[in-house]
Amino acid sequence: MVGEPPYLLRCIGCGRQYGPEEILYTCTLCGDLLTVEYRYPELPSDLDGLWGKRPLSVWRYRELLPILDAEKIVSLGEGGTGLHPCQRIAEMLGLRHLYVKNDGENPTGSFKDRGMTVGVTKALELGMQRVACASTGNTSASLAAYAAKAGIECLVLIPSGKVALGKLVQAIAHGAKVVQVQGNFDDALRIVRELCTTRSVYLLNSLNPYRLEGQKTTAFEIRDQLSPAVPDKVIIPVGNAGNISALWKGFTELHQLGMIDTPPQMIGIQAEGAAPIANAMRTARDIIEPLVHPETVATAIRIGAPVNWKKALKAMRESKGFAETVSDTEIIEAQKILAHHEGLFVEPAAAASIAGLRKLVASERIDAEDRVVCVTTGHGLKDQEIIVKEYPKPMEVKADLGAIKKLLGI
Ligand code: F0G
Repeated sequence: MVGEPPYLLRCIGCGRQYGPEEILYTCTLCGDLLTVEYRYPELPSDLDGLWGKRPLSVWRYRELLPILDAEKIVSLGEGGTGLHPCQRIAEMLGLRHLYVKNDGENPTGSFKDRGMTVGVTKALELGMQRVACASTGNTSASLAAYAAKAGIECLVLIPSGKVALGKLVQAIAHGAKVVQVQGNFDDALRIVRELCTTRSVYLLNSLNPYRLEGQKTTAFEIRDQLSPAVPDKVIIPVGNAGNISALWKGFTELHQLGMIDTPPQMIGIQAEGAAPIANAMRTARDIIEPLVHPETVATAIRIGAPVNWKKALKAMRESKGFAETVSDTEIIEAQKILAHHEGLFVEPAAAASIAGLRKLVASERIDAEDRVVCVTTGHGLKDQEIIVKEYPKPMEVKADLGAIKKLLGI
């Protein structure tokens, strides 16, 4: 490569720097997480003008994405998801400005696609022919699709019996090698991390700092879609804690570049039975206590030892945000409210942000005047089992108009 690379990797613990050619996921010196840093002085002066000419999508923001070779970009048309004003729920809760950023509108039905378009492109740049992840379902569905598009091999490890069928079939349909591990997500991640030390397999869990770069574009899009307003609060479901960290990085970069005045408060929502990060926030601790047996109906966020906990605590504390937990009942109720009153069908983990919103309004930690964005992270069709279980069965009647009218009372 001629000249200085436009970005480098930096350890968030000891500050050690690494070049873009290195294949690594954590600091070789202290083991801490890595983050991507750009050379701001080399960015074009009119970024906003440049971005404004491109369609709303992950790659609108390519100057702030860590890709060296644009020819290699592996894309399925990710990003550009709706920011939906939610007037009806806002009225119910006594709020004036409520929006849902519906990242379930991505190609494989979850926000993971934002990360995978960057992560799989990076795998090609680094010459990797095999990618892998552990997953509660969405990461594997997304990685399988992007690996298929790139023409490389994909291996996914999932917790046996704890992945919604819709997600499992996606990974199978895209031709991934799917291994069901007799353990939970945390076990699967531990194993895949070890597997990826062999250097012939590229790890694409959210430990991978490049993946999070793609995910930060949710923040960039929210800014562009709400402009000139900026949200006061962004509420987001938290599992392995990559996404809240990514969005905060996005808002921080916009702030550093003078593109927003005040970044929003980041509010992380965890399921009660899988809440090590919310517990650490509540008890004002600097480290988390992992859970051995996490449990929640929202299987996507059924995680006891989130790898990005340090970045997530930083995101909430730096932004003066906070965390909240929600019960399974509150999650299912929120899923119904969003589907019934706003026409948005999201999976249970995604509905955690709405469940959190309702709880925070009730406890007066959200003000009526706050401009609130709830991020919904995955499509409702992913987890059909939960709907079959929680909703009444459709009525059945013989093929006769009279009988149908009688049944419907019309
Ligand atoms: N919402 C959905 C729908 C998810 O699939 C996930 C994570 C999250 C929220 C939490 O995001 O981990 O960045 O805090 N799913 C991962 C997976 C773990 O394997 O699909 P996070």
